[in-house]
Amino acid sequence: MEMEIRALKTRKNAIVMAHNYQPLEIQALADVVGDSLELAVRAKEAKADLIVVCGVRFMAETAKILNPERKVVIPVPDAGCPLADFLTPEMIREAKERHPDAAVVVYVNSTAESKALADVTCTSANAVKVVASLKNDTILFGPDSNLAAYVQRELPEKTIIPLPPGGHCYVHTGFTLADVEAARRKGGMVVCHPECRPEIQEQADLVASTGGMVRGAAGGSEPWSVFTEREMVSRLRVLYPGRVFYEKPEAVCADMKKISLADLQQALEREEHEVVLSPEVMDRARRAIERMIAVGA
Ligand code: 13P
Ligand code: SF4
Repeated sequence: MEMEIRALKTRKNAIVMAHNYQPLEIQALADVVGDSLELAVRAKEAKADLIVVCGVRFMAETAKILNPERKVVIPVPDAGCPLADFLTPEMIREAKERHPDAAVVVYVNSTAESKALADVTCTSANAVKVVASLKNDTILFGPDSNLAAYVQRELPEKTIIPLPPGGHCYVHTGFTLADVEAARRKGGMVVCHPECRPEIQEQADLVASTGGMVRGAAGGSEPWSVFTEREMVSRLRVLYPGRVFYEKPEAVCADMKKISLADLQQALEREEHEVVLSPEVMDRARRAIERMIAVGA
């Protein structure tokens, strides 16, 4: 099947983009593997006729918004992100009425409609930099309340209002202080994603996006206990053979595991399932995403 997929990519002038949490066999066939920011930047630059995004829906939507002339498909259309569903456009409109002087920062793990109401988007790789770049003292930030807490800790001069207060990712909030204690017994560093709870962030030796973990692991040699989706550890092991990385076997994002090689092959063959968004929503969301890209990582 791998050979057919490679042949289809050439025949269709297609590019396959995969998130760091995708199964290794999908990552192996991808032209780009990265975190949300890296995928967004590469999607914007892509010249291919067909862009296949192996990840969850918001990642495919972001690619389409940034490169609307290309055909963008996601192999399994219901691969979503439960975190994204915490934030609705109505919540943003209501919060803006209550805080007219606040800026709205929307995490890319969100719907296109929510992004369309943002002043700027952010990813876990650049959330602090994006918020620091704004003149506003008060920031409405959603949907991840743990990333909001991380930004608040890094930028105490700002008032970060999480929108909604309890927005979270079930995979990352599954990490507990008992996991930190177990990791300490194994030795080495505790590395967590900023979607983990604040008490985990405070205990961690490094808080980083998945792309930040790839870069951060390049320098060291100690064991890492990696507090994010477990496939991240598969990727780190491929990149740094011989290094010791510990994963939590239960830390699985079910939606990230929906795409199989057969789905990828079919997506290339049939050019399905195409991401279609209203031009108005895309235009508004693009402004917010491009403003984020201009801030950088
Ligand atoms: P990254 O942008 O760090 O890859 O995070 C995306 C994500 O969905 C984390 O759960
Ligand atoms: Fe969404 Fe969490 Fe899955 Fe990331 S790991 S895609 S935030 S549900």
